[in-house]
Formats: sequence, C-alpha cells, structure tokens
Amino acid sequence: MKFYLILAVHCLTLVCSAPLHELTRASDSAMSLAKKVLSGVPAAHAACVTNTGLTLSGDAKSLEYLLSEIGIPAPPVLKSEGFTLDMSLSRIINGVELHAKLLQDISNALSCPEELEMLIADLRELSTQAQQMRGLAQIATESQDVVPQFSLRMDSDFRKQMAAHLSLQQLRNFTQDVIRSLRHISLSN
Ligand SMILES: *[C@@H]1O[C@H](CO)[C@@H](O)[C@H](O)[C@H]1NC(C)=O
Repeated sequence: MKFYLILAVHCLTLVCSAPLHELTRASDSAMSLAKKVLSGVPAAHAACVTNTGLTLSGDAKSLEYLLSEIGIPAPPVLKSEGFTLDMSLSRIINGVELHAKLLQDISNALSCPEELEMLIADLRELSTQAQQMRGLAQIATESQDVVPQFSLRMDSDFRKQMAAHLSLQQLRNFTQDVIRSLRHISLSN
C-alpha cells in the first residue's frame, strides 16, 4: 500500500511527466477514431435495421426488456470524475471490445456485413489505441480486460433486427461517453 502511494507520488512528479504530451496526442487520435465510429453508426443502422420502422434516435425504454431477452450485455459505466486514468482506459477497452464482438455476432446473423465490418475495424483500432495510451501512461495496470462471455438469442428475424437496433444504439451511447472521457483525459494532461 505504502509502496503504491510512493510510486504514485513519484509518478506524478517525475516518471510520468515525460510522455505526457505523447499521451495527449494518443488521446486525440483515439478521439478521432471514436468520432469515426460514432459517425459510422447511422449508416450501419440504416443498412441493418430495415423492416421495423425503428430509428436510431428513438427512445428504447419500451424495448429495454429485449436487451436482457436477447442477451445483450450492458457496457461498463464511464464517467470522468473519480476515475483514475487506468480505470477509464480499462473500461474504454472493455466496452469497445464488447461492442466489436456484439457487431461481429450480428454481422454473422444479418446481411449488412459491409457497414458492420467497417465499424468493427474502427473499434479494434480504437481498442489498440487505448491500450497504447495505457502503455504511455506507465501505470501498473490493476484492472483486467475482461469481455463478458455471451451469445445472443436471435431466433427470429424480429430478434435479429432488434439485436442490431439495440446494439447500435448502445454503441452510439457508449461511444459518446468514450469521447467525453477522452476529452477529459486530454484536458487533464
Ligand atoms: C441510448 O440513450 C438514449 C438517450 O439517453 C436512451 O433513450 C436509450 O434508451 C439508450 N439506448 C440504449 C440501448 O442504451
């Protein structure tokens, strides 16, 4: 415990100050990637969710029960206050990996692969970028990257459409939080 405290103080004053501008730069390019993901979501939604009349911006409250029925795991909660850099980055990585896997499952079930493949590629790049940031910050990582095991229950066409709709909406919501977190990281370094 004492050791970690000393390490943390040391880190604040000396060791970690060197690559801080690099961290800001890495955070900025992660932010561009996150914005790219966000801007790709509407096209993917339009291509995948075709016969339900559901819009991306529509309220999902009445559909929330389907999240658990289809088995879509909730993403990690992100907030800028009270989170260490390690916590923020680990949660960003976990949430990004979760959505990459969600979209992969949906891509296997629905015929809108192109738009989803592009999103998946951008998500993987974003995950790599966040891992690099963690390396640059030189923090001993205590958080683990754990993506929950799941398999979606999509046994009807309706459920496939709903899985795509809810996952893309959840991805949009999560990515907005990621952008806020990254902005906070850039500003506080
Ligand atoms: C996404 O956020 C909107 C607005 O806060 C909310 O209405 C909707 O239920 C959320 N959707 C999911 C799937 O989390």
